[in-house]
Amino acid sequence: MRIDIITVLPELLEGPFAHSILKRAKDKGLAEVHVHQLRDFGAGKHQQVDDYQYGGGAGMVMQCEPLVDCIEALQKQRTYDAVLYMTPDGKRFNQQDANALSLLGDMIIICGHYKGIDQRIRDHWITHEYSIGDYVLSGGELAAAVISDAVIRLLPGVLNDETSALTDSFQDNLLAPPVYTRPEDFRGHKVPEVLLSGNTKAIDLWREEQAYDRTKTRRPDLLED
Ligand code: ADE
Repeated sequence: MRIDIITVLPELLEGPFAHSILKRAKDKGLAEVHVHQLRDFGAGKHQQVDDYQYGGGAGMVMQCEPLVDCIEALQKQRTYDAVLYMTPDGKRFNQQDANALSLLGDMIIICGHYKGIDQRIRDHWITHEYSIGDYVLSGGELAAAVISDAVIRLLPGVLNDETSALTDSFQDNLLAPPVYTRPEDFRGHKVPEVLLSGNTKAIDLWREEQAYDRTKTRRPDLLED
């Protein structure tokens, strides 16, 4: 999978893709992330990419031309299955969305800034609009990194058995159960007996119950789905 991210702040995206699982995915040739500076497509000496909004009001709007020029330059080179726009008024991104995107081929992600992008781009070029939560970030870059991470780690071969995505929270609409490691007794706080029993059936059952109880108290909305 190849992900092309369009942004006015490429520096913000240098860190997330340089380490850990995302780096491993890149090193194994399973995923590539390319970051593009939108200003390279901006007009004039100042490489302008935004302008005042029609109708008046505070805040600038990202213009059609630089964005569409950048999208189309990429689309000339290969076919993209999706053009994503990160925006607080998009669909709230969840694990099912990550699963679905992980089955697609290449995608473009557009990071908004200021008041957002001209509606005509949303109407005619964007295929998916996502929010990563009900709060406003100063731009879409961190959201793009979050979504790329959630998708890339699902690609076959990226995770090993130890980190398998199948046991993640949300994969079956349940939160994950609690986990423990050595020592057995830490300052008088003991590991639940069942986990030391070696009885795999009892352990599986305990984990299922814990996952259910945790979901019921913390995220009852997941059980309604
Ligand atoms: N851009 C600004 N806030 C955002 C959010 N919550 N999700 C996605 N993109 C954003």
